[in-house]
Amino acid sequence: MKRPNVLAIHSIDHFALDVPDLEEARVYFTTFGLDVRDEGDGLALYTFGNSHCWARLSQGPAKKLRYLSFGIYAEDEAAFAEHLAAKGVNKIPAPARAIEGGIWFEGFDGLPLNIRVAEKATPTDKSEFTTISAGPGECGAVFNSSAPKIRPRRMSHFAIYTSDVVAATKWYEETLGLRLSDGSGPVVAFLHGAHGSDHHLLALVGSTHCGMHHSSWDVSSVQEVGLGSAQMLRGGYPKGWGVGRHVLGANYFYYATDPWGSHAEYSADIDFIPADCEWASNANHDPGDSFYLWGPNVPEGFVDNTEPNGT
Ligand SMILES: [Fe+2]
Repeated sequence: MKRPNVLAIHSIDHFALDVPDLEEARVYFTTFGLDVRDEGDGLALYTFGNSHCWARLSQGPAKKLRYLSFGIYAEDEAAFAEHLAAKGVNKIPAPARAIEGGIWFEGFDGLPLNIRVAEKATPTDKSEFTTISAGPGECGAVFNSSAPKIRPRRMSHFAIYTSDVVAATKWYEETLGLRLSDGSGPVVAFLHGAHGSDHHLLALVGSTHCGMHHSSWDVSSVQEVGLGSAQMLRGGYPKGWGVGRHVLGANYFYYATDPWGSHAEYSADIDFIPADCEWASNANHDPGDSFYLWGPNVPEGFVDNTEPNGT
């Protein structure tokens, strides 16, 4: 499934993050349900049963988003090189400890970006969503002692802070071919991939500077979102937000706040935008009608950018 005659990235291949304590990161993401592996002098995040590497973590003085790598089709490689040259992007060497390959350049807010030929990591169809209901006379109890451990199936999307949501949206549309799904003016914008992706591959959250807001991981049911929340609360991570349901994207969510002030989200039933769909995008939803339909009040600090400003 490829949208014809459109030059666009098809996936977020992986993100790279500095964290101040790799062992703390290992425990956090393992508790979240990811397959955390030692690779090089850092950690790599996988989902169980999936060979794709979604993230690379390295030790740094503070939590900091190091770069985003996007996947493209092999047949688009030459056209993308020409397109980026025509856009006048500032090419840069691959950052330290990054995986070589593809084209490296400076993105909006100076965030290092990479495009590389890769397998399409984002799905081409809506992910399966299940509900289980006991019939009459059947016992629907799930006992804590036998509750399953939640292991997300894949990364759904990634959310970053930006200094200018509206300008960044235009930049990602024109430079990488991402498409606006929905947004709320200068507060937030949700962008999807042209070749079929969840309602958002990349979310842009207004702030003073660039940084990571959250990574989001797909699970199969509201029950799994809820069990995931219990897994994190009982696993020693009391801070978070949810369970609730978003308006834009329509997914059920629980955000577990990490030790550095960003979040990992369990997400279920997010809208899917196929490669042949022209989504009726709207950049200016009312803020009160764009964030969440139901759920607990948003905790203080939920959109505080805790990363240092600058390189
Ligand atoms: Fe999200």
